[in-house]
Amino acid sequence: MNRPAMEGVRLNVPAHVKHDRLVTWVAEIAALTGAADVVWCDGTIEEYKRLCDLLVANGTMLRLNPQKRANSFLARSDPSDVARVEDRTFICTERQDDAGPTNNWVAPAEMRELLQTGEKALFKGCMKGRTMYVVPFSMGPLGSHISHIGVELTDSPYVVISMRTMTRMGSPVYDVLGENGHFVPCVHTVGAPLEPGRKDVPWPCNKTKYIVHYPETHEIWSYGSGYGGNALLGKKCFALRIASYMGRTQDWLAEHMLILGVATPAGDKYYVAAAFPSACGKTNFSMLVPPKGYEGWSITTVGEDIAWVKRGANGRLHAINPEAGYFGVAPGTNEHTNPNCMAMLKRDCVFTNVALTDDGDVWWEGMTKEPPAHLIDWQGKDWTPQIAKETGAKAAHPNSRFTVSAIHNPVLDTEWNNPDGVPIDAFLFGGRRSTTVPLVTEARNWTEGVYMAATMGSETTAAIAGQVGVVRRDPFAMIAFAGYNMADYFQHWLNVGGSLAQAGVQQPKIYCVNWFRKSTDGKFIWPGFGENMRVLEWIVGRLEGKAGGVENAFGISPRFEDMRWDGLYFTREQFQNVIGLDRAAWQQELALHEQLFTQLTYHLPDELPATKARIEERFATA
Ligand code: GTP
Ligand code: SPV
Ligand code: MN
Repeated sequence: MNRPAMEGVRLNVPAHVKHDRLVTWVAEIAALTGAADVVWCDGTIEEYKRLCDLLVANGTMLRLNPQKRANSFLARSDPSDVARVEDRTFICTERQDDAGPTNNWVAPAEMRELLQTGEKALFKGCMKGRTMYVVPFSMGPLGSHISHIGVELTDSPYVVISMRTMTRMGSPVYDVLGENGHFVPCVHTVGAPLEPGRKDVPWPCNKTKYIVHYPETHEIWSYGSGYGGNALLGKKCFALRIASYMGRTQDWLAEHMLILGVATPAGDKYYVAAAFPSACGKTNFSMLVPPKGYEGWSITTVGEDIAWVKRGANGRLHAINPEAGYFGVAPGTNEHTNPNCMAMLKRDCVFTNVALTDDGDVWWEGMTKEPPAHLIDWQGKDWTPQIAKETGAKAAHPNSRFTVSAIHNPVLDTEWNNPDGVPIDAFLFGGRRSTTVPLVTEARNWTEGVYMAATMGSETTAAIAGQVGVVRRDPFAMIAFAGYNMADYFQHWLNVGGSLAQAGVQQPKIYCVNWFRKSTDGKFIWPGFGENMRVLEWIVGRLEGKAGGVENAFGISPRFEDMRWDGLYFTREQFQNVIGLDRAAWQQELALHEQLFTQLTYHLPDELPATKARIEERFATA
């Protein structure tokens, strides 16, 4: 095979890599970035252990007490690099209208000059003094017709070990790629070249950050951050932004959704996919433990963050989880809210930005009622409950997370690895809303469901750099993840529903949920977590044509007597406070829908303003 001649760095191409285009690209990026060395990752456990040792030696991670957390580590990031940076995320399509008004857009040529070709291009020499790792990965089961392959080039060993947990990563990917297979090229740098003789910092990164996508050429370029969705490029960048673009042209959907299985006492099994914005409950819902009184019911996890939805052989919509691991929010997770998750985190975990206990274990806000008397906080400083009281300092960062393989999930669904996915019976959409939006509402039809999802609002969370708790529109929980124009995305959803109907295939039912209504004293009214099972039971009852409900302006919601309350003290009055539609609040809400539609005028499907007019009419006559 013709191997490009390299100046400066040896490419070290393994014999089993037979893909010329891949090798040429690796050579180009090595030359551009000035990497000191190129390492082709094989995904073996030996490689994982070697890199963990390196990260410990570098001070990026420390090994936790093996008696408490076997084979587990704590990583502390730079305090400036703790969440996704949406204002630094770009969708670079040739035409600005194809990225749409909800995405940051720069023309591809201009962006390439900034990153690659200009005199001061950021990627020029950005890996000097560092090793560039070649990380081959499959999103979805290896070789499945639903799966897609990516290769990430990164100068962060933390990213390499995380990608091994989060994706199917390693040498077998090259067999699937063969000599000419399609892959999504992902280039990642922390943007901190290491001058000769200079000591590295534990978490290298750069104040300047660019998370850049070229949907038309399926490329991803990420500069300056080592954290989460900014750096693990298989996740949000590929599996949502690039994949949603691919899905639009190839007639499928890439969604910010968990996928769970519900088995009923009667022996029936349903699959539900649910889109909630970042840090709004997907991981928790996907592995919930049914409460007392729900013996015979079980919930199993297919996925907890991303779903790829395609038409199956029977014409129905089937979903796979393209990921192989979970990068989940730590704070709030405990034996009561999520015992399955606590069991999942006993071993083989990397925790990032949580607190360290004096006996070498981890802790975060909400893990136990009483915090330990002393901790080392996420920034490596002493922390006591007293210090917290005086300064408000959190022991764990609010967006601290665990990285763990799906195989440790005690309620992993038997079909989670099925290359054909699971058939979807219902889609749920839910934001974090302390007012206005009811606990659960069923859409009367597909179009009203698309309307619910399109107009969804949510209070911002710590998963995103910036202000927390501000209500913004987050259509389909995809505001930050649609790789093309949001109005075209709405149309794509309408088209998918339309073609199901045309083929005579039953459409999944669509629901809007909200676990987060608060009372005037600022407390959540709905107990949430395992108790969300009650809402799921109602939904299953609706799918089976058994559960009752009452029509309102927005859709169909349960009455108190339509839900089962065994084992929970929840009064009619409390229920009214989570299910009620307040006319004045909805007038304001509908004005916000109008604002969204005004922003998205270009290509906005007519069905959406028409649906809004019908809702307004119903409010007027109710
Ligand atoms: P991303 O990984 O950012 O996409 O988040 P996610 O949607 O998976 O959210 P996750 O399940 O990690 O929950 C985020 C936060 O919300 C955690 O602090 C949870 O404890 C909390 N949470 C989850 N479910 C509920 C619920 O039903 N009620 C309440 N009150 N809080 C919840
Ligand atoms: C989210 O923000 O929705 C996440 C975490 O799932 S991250 O991987 O950082 O995107
Ligand atoms: Mn997410």
